[in-house]
Amino acid sequence: MALERTLSIIKPDAVAKNVIGEIYSRFEKAGLKVVAAKMKQLSRAEAEGFYAVHRERPFFNALVEFMISGPVMIQVLQGEGAVLKNRDLMGATNPKDAAPGTIRADFADSIDANAVHGSDSLENAAIEVAYFFPATDVYAR
Ligand code: PPS
Repeated sequence: MALERTLSIIKPDAVAKNVIGEIYSRFEKAGLKVVAAKMKQLSRAEAEGFYAVHRERPFFNALVEFMISGPVMIQVLQGEGAVLKNRDLMGATNPKDAAPGTIRADFADSIDANAVHGSDSLENAAIEVAYFFPATDVYAR
């Protein structure tokens, strides 16, 4: 498997629940390294830009409102097969469908407030990492 980087966001619900450390612990135990990180209150324009591919979907406005409802924790994760590994750790989009032991099964309340975001492909990971981090803020570890 190749060494990859993926973008992860701990969403406002999980930040408010004070489980940043528990989620980071899952990344690290799975062999993913945090190679960039920042806490940020997204502006409406930043959230709309990040989710632009979903602009036509019925939940777009609700998703943007939720993502700007409080600070988020944004990180770049690096490791073997990082994109899929992070998606596996996250669990299904709807926490009702998420496998036991996944982040969403343990920390998410609903499909709206679902605790974490993770890039869904290597191609999107590169775009999403660049959206939030200049290359000089991502560290080789
Ligand atoms: S995914 O994760 O991209 O495969 O899932 P998808 O179903 O395409 O959803 C894209 C993002 O929209 C969020 N989502 C929703 N938000 C609010 N309400 C509803 N009903 C809803 N359905 C999906 C979903 O969590 C994805 O956001 P991210 O941040 O990528 O996880």
